[in-house]
Amino acid sequence: MIRFLDLIKINERYETAFQDTLKSVLERGWYILGKEVETFENNFATYCKTQHCVGVGNGLDALILIFKGYIQLGKLQKGDEVIVPANTYIASVLAILAADLVPVLVEPKLETYNINPDLIPEKITPKTKAILAVHLYGQLAEMERIHTIAEQNNLLVIEDAAQAHGIPPTPEGGVNKYQEVPPSRVRGAVAYSFYPSKNLGALGDGGAVVTNDAQLAKVIQSLRNYGSETKYQTEFIGINSRLDEIQAAFLNLKLSNLDADNEKRRSIAKRYLTEIKSDKIILPFWDFSKNHVFHLFVIRTSRRAELQVYLQQHGIETAIHYPIPPHKQKALTQMNALSFPITEKIHEEVLSIPLHPALEDEEVSAIINALNQY
Ligand SMILES: Cc1ncc(COP(=O)(O)O)c(C=O)c1O
Repeated sequence: MIRFLDLIKINERYETAFQDTLKSVLERGWYILGKEVETFENNFATYCKTQHCVGVGNGLDALILIFKGYIQLGKLQKGDEVIVPANTYIASVLAILAADLVPVLVEPKLETYNINPDLIPEKITPKTKAILAVHLYGQLAEMERIHTIAEQNNLLVIEDAAQAHGIPPTPEGGVNKYQEVPPSRVRGAVAYSFYPSKNLGALGDGGAVVTNDAQLAKVIQSLRNYGSETKYQTEFIGINSRLDEIQAAFLNLKLSNLDADNEKRRSIAKRYLTEIKSDKIILPFWDFSKNHVFHLFVIRTSRRAELQVYLQQHGIETAIHYPIPPHKQKALTQMNALSFPITEKIHEEVLSIPLHPALEDEEVSAIINALNQY
């Protein structure tokens, strides 16, 4: 069986290094907000070419803390509207709600699965104060367009990069050129998740906020730790959401392989895109630049259930990201009557096929053959 995701294989490359690192954390006897988190924050900020990184408990909290940080700084207020793609993982929408803000959903482009910037302006009202761009499945959203719209309307730009570690922080050419935005393209704040399956995955939960905004970084540093900078002195109503020392130590080791892993992901994607030839399958859009880190390789078909069974019978595990869109979730009754036909079509048709850095060439060939014979 070709597993959809083989975390054992992905992480066994680090076994000895993990054990050595665990030993040094144990010997140090300091488990929360210590040297490993500080080192990771510095390393990840450097990697993202941003000035600040704050390690937090998970990706959802990273998003919530960005919103709460802006509220604390007076840049957002309860009840403000935040533009967000209708086609996203539920966490993007939950984070907006958790900060007492109002999500305003916008349809994606069917080809890229990412928010359609053409549809943003019509959703902007006097209450709109931010855009939450999501780099879904690992593909950079159209940030140049999004930044232009944000500037014209005086909106904050927040990025959900939970699925997109390693998308280029510097100009890459193609549709996204940021030459005029030194020192990096990050203008607001970006949330990352280190959930084990992510391109940079911990051995448990983890997350981070990166930003070039020193004030925001300082507030989030406090908010993640009860709203306290100095022990037993509480300045803000904070939460407890800190990146663990042990997870930070593991992430420090894995970060050095992230670019190579992403390159491997892109090389598999290139094979899928050039070798899969079937009129029953729609392949994902990619401009072959570094603007995609292929967290997932998501195909579309009107015969999803049948294709999934067929692949299973050929020893290939697949997954669906995602079966139910946020606006149709039971928990979000206030949105259930809304209609987003493109998003709904995507959720009915998408199927993710295996793509991860430990996938063997022969496995990739077997997947391509099975799809071509379908
Ligand atoms: C797009 C997106 N946003 C946010 C999250 C939340 O991350 P976490 O699971 O670490 O809370 C995830 C991951 O699961 C995600 O895929």
